[in-house]
Amino acid sequence: MTPTSDNLSSLMAGLERGETLPAHWYTNPSITDQEISKIFRRSWHYIGPLKQLTNAGDYITGYVGGIPAVVVLNEGGLAALINVCRHRRHEVMKGCGNAKMMRCGYHAWTYDLSGRLKAAPRTATEPDFRLEDYPLLPLRVATLGPWIFVNADLGAEPLEAQFGALLGIIAESGIKLESLELYKRDEWASHANWKTMLENYLECYHCAVAHPGFSAAVDVLPEKYHLGVHGWFMSQVGRVRQSALEGRSRVKIYDPRGELAQAQYHLLWPNTTININPGFPNLSIDVWIPNGPNETQGFSEQYFGPGVSDEFAQALIAFNDQVGEEDDALTDSVQRGLRAALPDRGRFLTRAEHLVGHFQKLVASAVAGDETALKSIADGRTGGSSHTVPVSPASPTP
Ligand SMILES: [Fe+2]
Repeated sequence: MTPTSDNLSSLMAGLERGETLPAHWYTNPSITDQEISKIFRRSWHYIGPLKQLTNAGDYITGYVGGIPAVVVLNEGGLAALINVCRHRRHEVMKGCGNAKMMRCGYHAWTYDLSGRLKAAPRTATEPDFRLEDYPLLPLRVATLGPWIFVNADLGAEPLEAQFGALLGIIAESGIKLESLELYKRDEWASHANWKTMLENYLECYHCAVAHPGFSAAVDVLPEKYHLGVHGWFMSQVGRVRQSALEGRSRVKIYDPRGELAQAQYHLLWPNTTININPGFPNLSIDVWIPNGPNETQGFSEQYFGPGVSDEFAQALIAFNDQVGEEDDALTDSVQRGLRAALPDRGRFLTRAEHLVGHFQKLVASAVAGDETALKSIADGRTGGSSHTVPVSPASPTP
């Protein structure tokens, strides 16, 4: 493969016409590296539920653009810190729990709950060594409803400014977010680029073809299934089918009778998705993380409202698993097509799949490093500039 670069203006013009990003954006490790530095390290990432941090010393860990992160409740409130010891860069905290101090398991360097280094064995005799020179480094933390988000960019736009309007849309479903209880949390891995997977998430053009169960539960007709671009988040809102409520579905589905008549599927830029299905109060939240260009890994949390039966919970989880398996088969296949790079460009529908187009515009302008274009796309104005996207001569991984 020869060295190449993509001009942002021509990429944007192509996206406007419904031409997808070129195939190498989904297979080239250099693009993934740029996405991590220019997208993932500059955006808000869901890390866990606020309910998990109620007492001083409660902590959770996660990753933000590949950076180990710990969020801890200390006297000053929530603090997010880079979970990497200042000594030899071992991860300090693991999993979640409660701690009085944060002690690294490698050489016992010990930090207080604000991240100040308080003890480090044998350093008393070390020349020019002062504990106060080695605090854990800071990250930004903020909450949205019951969720904790972390951002590695200390100057990033506030979380509320980007996603605050989402809470009103979720409230329209009838869900009371504060009442939801965590039912289960899973980690997963898939064999497709993170964008391949999220672009599949962002359209329901494929639902009638590929998801018979989902389409029997939720009305996926274009006039009934609303796709909304809200700047930094994109939403799909549908309704339960009357035939499903009456138990007249042609295929086996879960029983969607309950106080929620809506289905809602939201993508929060760049990689957090929030799902609500018709039925009793339920919500799941997923984080999608690139693991090289051709693999994605992540975690899923499933929540239910108080009093929701185990029977409903298990049936809905099985239903979601079925849809997930159907999607994985689709995105695995798309990734094989993208690796072939023939054809180099796909053609998406600018009306039925415009959330995909919006997402690709955000990706392209962010990777180009064009902040003005990125913000204007999020604000709903058309971006465009002569920025180029540098791409190394590395070959796409097979
Ligand atoms: Fe799907």
